Order: sequence, then structure tokens, then C-alpha cells
Amino acid sequence: MPAVTLKAPRLFREACYVGGQWITADNGATIDVDNPATGDIIGRVPSLSQADIQQAIDSAQAGFNEWRQMTAQERADLMLRWLDLMQEHKEDIATLMTLEQGKPLAESRGEVDYAGAFIRWFAEEARRNYGETIPAAKRGQHIVVTRNPVGVTVAITPWNFPAAMITRKAGAALAAGCSMIIKPAEATPFTALALAQLAEEAGIPAGVLNVVTGDAPMIGETLTASPVVRKLSFTGSTAVGRKLMAQCAQNIQKVSLELGGNAPFIVFDDADVDKAVEGAIASKFRNTGQTCVCANRFLVQRGIHDAFVEALSKAMSELVVGDGFDEKANQSCLINKAAVEKVQTHYKDALDKGARHVWGESPNDAKGNYVQPVLITDVSHDSTVCKEETFGPLAAVIPFDTEEEAIALANDTPYGLASYFYARDIHRIWRVADALETGIVSINEGAFSNPAAPFGGVKASGLGREGSRHGMEEYTELKYLCMGGE
Ligand code: SIN
Repeated sequence: MPAVTLKAPRLFREACYVGGQWITADNGATIDVDNPATGDIIGRVPSLSQADIQQAIDSAQAGFNEWRQMTAQERADLMLRWLDLMQEHKEDIATLMTLEQGKPLAESRGEVDYAGAFIRWFAEEARRNYGETIPAAKRGQHIVVTRNPVGVTVAITPWNFPAAMITRKAGAALAAGCSMIIKPAEATPFTALALAQLAEEAGIPAGVLNVVTGDAPMIGETLTASPVVRKLSFTGSTAVGRKLMAQCAQNIQKVSLELGGNAPFIVFDDADVDKAVEGAIASKFRNTGQTCVCANRFLVQRGIHDAFVEALSKAMSELVVGDGFDEKANQSCLINKAAVEKVQTHYKDALDKGARHVWGESPNDAKGNYVQPVLITDVSHDSTVCKEETFGPLAAVIPFDTEEEAIALANDTPYGLASYFYARDIHRIWRVADALETGIVSINEGAFSNPAAPFGGVKASGLGREGSRHGMEEYTELKYLCMGGE
């Protein structure tokens, strides 16, 4: 058991959930899971074998056969029961999340709400899985199009949102009538297992939702090698996404990929500085900078540069870094040592290329996995921070002169997940919104994530959309019924 106490200790599971059973690895192998804030071991989860994963595939097939026969209303009712249990156990789920991921408790609570909102959205959407009729070309003929669940699906989810990235996928899959095998990140399996425990208690039939843990490459290979699996949804790095997409080609499995980003956050001279700073804090420092949509590059027009930098440093000085369980903290540790080193490398590289340290403690003075928020400016666009996602609390400012220059810099990346800009001129707003090559453009707003909107990127940031009605469509196939006349 973890050092903290849960109101419902049964939510802490050190076993996988497969076909309605709680299983360990057939060879007894386990993986240690630690608390990134302290390095203490929280518990152990099974390192399943290939045979165990095959068992999960068979179970998901059996679960699919039952789930697809149920009415949309029956499925929605069970999903809403699951949601009720998540809300009832919000504090315990948030506690597990902070324990294994490190994020401040208030953010973990917020994530339980965010995760639940996907279940509600898709439970409602289940009943609107409409098909269509099309006027036929031939007399007496009828064209009917139905939307059908793709079948057994797989979700491979990241550590930065241990609950919401699961429900964003599982909500859509279950609403469409699919079953799912979830492989949570190695760092954060306990939140996933608690959600599975609640799915069982909600009465979601055995095999519909399965959670497996273990060696990620082996699990990915085994799942994608099976012709039973019809779809894979992955959130994580572009490198792993590319590999999984190639593996899915063997069996022509559908793929949704939510991959890396390098979000530009543009502040034009006509922006409202206070609003831009509020948005910058919301975007850059959410989850201590560890989201795929965190602002990675602040492109700031010269006329407003000094005012923005001064106001941003003031706002950053109000951030409170501490252990996730300290209720005063709104910034916490990074996930591991490699994450700390990445921030240090981006910082050093930017300074080596001429950037100026404006505010904050140097990342070189990091203690354990804790990096303090830091602000630099005059960053050259050939710096690593402008090419790769930092995934940490480094705010890097790049001054620019013209709108054309800002657009060119913003688009000068292989990534295209999210972008942000602040401006007041309505003509400029439309021009820039049209020109930015990202799946999401956030205008005068620093926090856009919500289940009703299509989340996803272009270019190396991925394929497909999650959330919204489009999110459920990803788990369906169209079937064209051609009804001949007499
Ligand atoms: C992510 O970082 O992958 C997801 C962020 C979000 O849902 O807002």
C-alpha cells in the first residue's frame, strides 16, 4: 500500500484487469512504480507475458461480442454509472495520481473532473451514432449507411494525464460499441487500475475494458500483430507513434495518434498584455509544463516585448513549487531525471546561442526532479527549444517584428498540434488563424481543452481527433447497404 491512505483502499490494485479477472503475470514478473517527488517505491504491477496479452485480446473479443449487442442507451447507462463512481471516489483517484505522477493535488482533482467529462460527453454521444440515407441513382433502390463499431481497440496512454487520456479514448470506444485494451504508461499504472476497478463495480461487462501493464514494446508489437485488434489510439512521442503506425500497417488497423508538439504562443503589439500573461501562465505551467499543448515558444512583437516579459516574470514569481500533496503548491516535480536533464539542455543551448536569463532559478540548480520556473528572452530560433518540446517550466521568448515573420517562425517546425495567439485587430485575427499550421488554434485564450471540441494535430503531431463527435467516429466504420428494388 502507498504511504498515503485512501478512503477506499480497494482502489489500489497491483494486478491487471483482463476479461473481468484481476491477473498477475504468468511468470510472476513485476515492475516497480515510484513516486517522482521522492523516489520511493509506491507499489508493483505485473509485467505481463506475451501469452497474457493474447489472453487480453481473446477477452476483448468476447467483451466486444456482448457489448455491441447492447443498445446505445444500455451502454450509456453503464458509462454514466462508471462516471458516478469516479466522482464518488474523486479524492482517492486524485491521491493516486499525485502519488505516481507528482502533479499538485488540485490539478489531479481537476483531471478527475476532466476525465469524467469525456465519459459524460461520449455516453450522451452514444445515442447519436447516426447513419444516413442517400437518394439512390436507380429506381426502387435505397442507399442506407450505418455506423458500426470497429471491434477490439487498443489505447496506449501517457503518464502526463493518467486518467483523462484513458477516458478520452475509452469513452469514445465504449460509446461506439467497441471493447478496449488499455496499456497505461509504465510510470502511472495505478490511476488506470483504479479506473478499471470502478468500471468493474459499475457493471461494465467482463472483457469490455481491460488494463494490461508490462514491457511497452512487446505489448505494442503483440497487440498490433493480432488481426483481432482493429484500431489503435496512442498518445505519446512522435518517434513511438511512427513505430506503432508502421506496425499497424501489417493488419491495416485504424490509427489515431496524438503526438508531440512545439506550440508557438504569439503576442502581437495590439494584444491585451494582462490577458496574454494570464493565458501564458495557464498554457505554459499547466502540469509543470508537461503537456503536449504547453506553449513552448513565446513569439513576442518588439513593441510589447518589455511589458510582456516584465508582467510574465511577475506572474511567474507568484507560482508556488512544492510537493504535490502540499495544498499551496501549484507547480511540482517533473516525472523523472531525464525530464530534468531535457530542460537543462534546452536552457543551456538557448543561452549558448545568445539568449538572456531574465527571471528564475537556473535549471542547473534543480534538486531531485524539481526544476523552478525560469524565463529567458532573445532566444534564437535555431535553438533546440524552438525545435523540440521542452516538457518543463522553461519559458523561452523570441522577439519578432512583423506579422509575416511571426507566422513563418510559428510554422517553422515539423509539429502542428496547438498554437496560441493574442491580438485585438479582427482582420489580423482571421489572417493569422488561417495561416497557422496546427490542428488547434487558441485565440486570446490559454486553456482550450474540453470534451466537446476536436483535439488533435497535423504534420508530425499526429492523425485523427479525440473528443467531440469526431472522436467517436474514429471508433466506427461506415457500412453501405444497397437495397435493390423489385
Ligand atoms: C496532452 O498533453 O497530451 C493532452 C493535453 C490536454 O488534453 O489538454
